[in-house]
Amino acid sequence: MLLKDKSGIVFGVANKRSIAFACARSASAQGAKLILTYQGERLEKATRELADSLPNEAIAIKCDVSSEAALDEAFEQIEGFMPKLNFGVHSIAFAPREELDGRFADTSREGWNTALDVSAYSFTSIARRLDTLMPDGGSLVTMTYFGSEKVMPHYNVMGPAKAALESSVRYLAADLGPRNIRVNAVSAGPLRTLAASGVSGFSQFLDIAREKSPLRRNTSPDEVGDATVFLASDLSRGITGTTLWVDCGYHIMAL
Ligand SMILES: NC(=O)c1ccc[n+]([C@@H]2O[C@H](COP(=O)([O-])OP(=O)(O)OC[C@H]3O[C@@H](n4cnc5c(N)ncnc54)[C@H](O)[C@@H]3O)[C@@H](O)[C@H]2O)c1
Repeated sequence: MLLKDKSGIVFGVANKRSIAFACARSASAQGAKLILTYQGERLEKATRELADSLPNEAIAIKCDVSSEAALDEAFEQIEGFMPKLNFGVHSIAFAPREELDGRFADTSREGWNTALDVSAYSFTSIARRLDTLMPDGGSLVTMTYFGSEKVMPHYNVMGPAKAALESSVRYLAADLGPRNIRVNAVSAGPLRTLAASGVSGFSQFLDIAREKSPLRRNTSPDEVGDATVFLASDLSRGITGTTLWVDCGYHIMAL
C-alpha cells in the first residue's frame, strides 16, 4: 500500500483505455484517495463510472485545461473536495487531427498554439495551482513520448510540444523543489488510446516497438500506471526533474 493515506488527482480520463485511468487504477490499488478529471460533459458519465469502479474512494470532476477561467473553476471544486493533496498526474495532450498527418513543415500557427497550449502549458498551469494544495510537499508526474527527441512519422507538432513539456518538468522541479514538491515525467511506449489514434499510421509505431525493443513486446498501460505510482510515492523521494522511460527499452536502440 504505497499510497495509503495519500490523496491525489489524475487529470485526463477519457475512457478505460486512457493512460490516466491506468494510473488511477494503480494508485487506487495502492490505497490512494483520488479525484479523476475529464475534459467536458461528454465524458462525464463514463468517467464517473470509471471512478466508481476503483477499489478506493474516487470522484470525478470536469476540468478543461484550455482556459485559465475553466481551471480556476475546477480548482475551486478540487479544493472543496481535497484541501490537501499529495500527488498529481497530468495525462493530457491534444493537437488538431490535420496536424498529425503529412509534413511537420506544414504545421499551422493555430495548430502549433493549440498543441503547445493544451499539451505543454497546461502542466505548468496545473503545477502552479497544485503547489498551493501541497503544503507538506508532494509529487507531480506528466506523460511524455520519445517523439520529443526523435522524429516519428506524423507525430509532427506533438514533438515540440513534448520537448516543451519535458523542459517544463525541469524548470518546475527547480522552482518547486525547495517546497519538497518533486516533478517528473514518464515516457511511455506507444499504447492504443484515443489520443494515439489521432496520429496517422500509429499502428506502425506499435509494430516497430514490439519488433525492436529489447523486451520484444509493447508496453502495457498497467506498467505505465505502476511506474507513475512509484514516482508519486515516497519510494522515489530522491528523484526530481527527470524522465522515467517505460517503453520496454525501445529508446536505447539505434537500429
Ligand atoms: N498513447 C500513447 O501511445 C502515449 C505514449 C506516450 C505518452 N502519451 C501521453 O499520455 C497522455 C494521455 O494520453 P492517452 O494516450 O491516454 O490518450 P487519451 O485520449 O485517453 O487521453 C488524452 C486526454 O487528454 C484530454 N484532453 C485533451 N484536451 C483537453 C483539454 N483542453 N482539457 C482537458 N483535457 C483535455 C482528453 O479528454 C483525454 O482525456 C498524453 O499526454 C499523451 O501524449 C501517450
